[in-house]
Amino acid sequence: MTLTGKKIVLGVTGSIAAYKAVELVRELTKAGASVRVVMTEAAQRFVAPLTFATLCRQAVLTDHTAWEAEMPHLGAAQEADLVLIAPATADIIAKFAHGIADDLLSTLFLACTRPVILAPAMDADMYRHPAVQDNLARLRSWGVRIIEPATGELASGVWGPGRLTECVEIVQAVAETLCPARDLSNEVVLITAGPTREPLDPVRYLSTRSSGKMGYALATEAAARGARTILVSGPSALSPPAGVECIRVETALQMREAVLDRLAEATVIIKAAAVSDYRPAHPAESKLAKCDGLLTLDLTPNPDILQEIGAHKDRRIVVGFAAETGELIPRARHKLSAKHLDLIVANDVSQKDAGFGSDNNQVILLDSTGGVEPLPLLPKREVARRILNRVVALRHTTGHSA
Ligand code: CTP
Repeated sequence: MTLTGKKIVLGVTGSIAAYKAVELVRELTKAGASVRVVMTEAAQRFVAPLTFATLCRQAVLTDHTAWEAEMPHLGAAQEADLVLIAPATADIIAKFAHGIADDLLSTLFLACTRPVILAPAMDADMYRHPAVQDNLARLRSWGVRIIEPATGELASGVWGPGRLTECVEIVQAVAETLCPARDLSNEVVLITAGPTREPLDPVRYLSTRSSGKMGYALATEAAARGARTILVSGPSALSPPAGVECIRVETALQMREAVLDRLAEATVIIKAAAVSDYRPAHPAESKLAKCDGLLTLDLTPNPDILQEIGAHKDRRIVVGFAAETGELIPRARHKLSAKHLDLIVANDVSQKDAGFGSDNNQVILLDSTGGVEPLPLLPKREVARRILNRVVALRHTTGHSA
């Protein structure tokens, strides 16, 4: 792993785990990064700035030194490729989540337009408190990556979540963010996204509440990781991600045709589209006029595209989605086996702040070996990253090359 030439601002805050940030600086510099440390007042009670200054070969920024330079928060935020806060206390998490800028580090956060990674460390009950969890969820929704703390014996003697994650994992997260792995460069990933529209007449249609954000996030992430990426998209207001071939369709039948047309090339298929299960049996050629009383529509089933692919999957990895409003896991598991999938992404679309139209999603990943991985509420790009991590792992376990 190399971070050669990368500039990292490391924010160290007042936790007993501040001493572990010393090791972190060593690992980051060993990987080739240049590290600029910013310490809060409380952090300096645990570790002396001189320790970091010696290891980084550059002065540490503190609230005190801030007055000696002109706008140091802007300078440091602009020169960094990434800002990492480790350890991050409940206090700095709350400040970041609420835009409080009363010291150098919290001001720097507001001025920062680069990726931010945060590794919390605190006592277990503090970490579990809804105030901390809400603040973390808010930061995640802004794209801040949170490295969840490890569970173990804490400084208080209590056992629980709150230990600063191991240095190697933090350095790995930094590397993944700054130099995304090209681990899908042998794959052709075909993704479907958005809703379908089934015409009733020339001006009306049946559709599903889907913005396409999850499928577009998957396409963006797949392309960033080196895959040749084909996005078959139902109507969506989103622009096609750079480097992705986008095929626009409207109806389920058109989506099926586009998918089958490109099936031979695809080595991974991810069906994030919310396909309409039915279409009007007799769409009118001219606008339907209003009539008195009830209007009855005849609907005919659309083909299940995913089922069709699952039946002829060969060496392809096939991932489906299950959008549910109840009995999430049993229904998703049924779809996983009925459609011969390798992985299904189950989400409860009745949940507030997640699912259709939202920038975030909270999903459970179920695989064909019985594995169940619930994910926290995350930005859709991060959900996409986790799904594609599973695709890479599946490719390794099946032993089949793409
Ligand atoms: N799907 C598909 N073609 C359809 C319907 C669904 O390819 N005609 C795919 C979706 O893209 C998704 C998965 O099948 O990946 C599950 O879709 P979902 O709507 O959750 O389930 P259905 O199989 O349609 O079952 P139901 O609507 O009864 O829950």
